[in-house]
Amino acid sequence: MNDLRRIELVEGDITRLPVDAIVNAANRTLLGGGGVDGAIHRAAGPQLLAECKTLGGCATGQAKITAGYNLPARWVIHTVGPVYSGVESDAERLRDCHVNSLQRVLECGARSVAFPAISCGVYGYPVVEAAPIALRAVADVLSESAALQRVVFALFSADYLSVYREAFDALQAHR
Ligand code: APR
Repeated sequence: MNDLRRIELVEGDITRLPVDAIVNAANRTLLGGGGVDGAIHRAAGPQLLAECKTLGGCATGQAKITAGYNLPARWVIHTVGPVYSGVESDAERLRDCHVNSLQRVLECGARSVAFPAISCGVYGYPVVEAAPIALRAVADVLSESAALQRVVFALFSADYLSVYREAFDALQAHR
């Protein structure tokens, strides 16, 4: 099926989405934090942190998987986005987060996954720059994999949703 048709954009709280896996915008310690990291740990409960403590952290651009505990999602994929500084490698690391998160999703057999706007909060990545990178990375993986049926971007504001919508429409026009 057309890869872009399997991408959905929604405004809402990622911790409430009925998908098989959700992606957490974590930090390298994987020991929790604010933003979506805090929301996911609060919703999942203390067992999530207990499992994260066994993972030995995570490098920027990499992704590690845990169970979802009290979340609707069965799994949480923890990835660490780049702290934005405007260098070329920021885009490469942000792409890596999406590609590596989807590798973990394919490995565990999940059929649906939701992403937040990785690095677009505390880590300062301008969402207008991040959205095309995120969408292109996901579309590229989807074009290689029929197993993944649904990738949702859960945006936490109408503004972010409209930026992703514009980036999605531009991508669709050029695919
Ligand atoms: N659902 C969906 N998106 C959310 C939610 C939520 N419940 N809560 C926050 N967001 C959005 C933010 O509005 C932002 O658009 O997630 C996006 C990512 O922002 P952050 O959570 O700040 O993540 P990031 O910019 O990657 O910074 C990571 O922040 O929380 C700490 O421990 C984390 O140190 C790490 C850093």
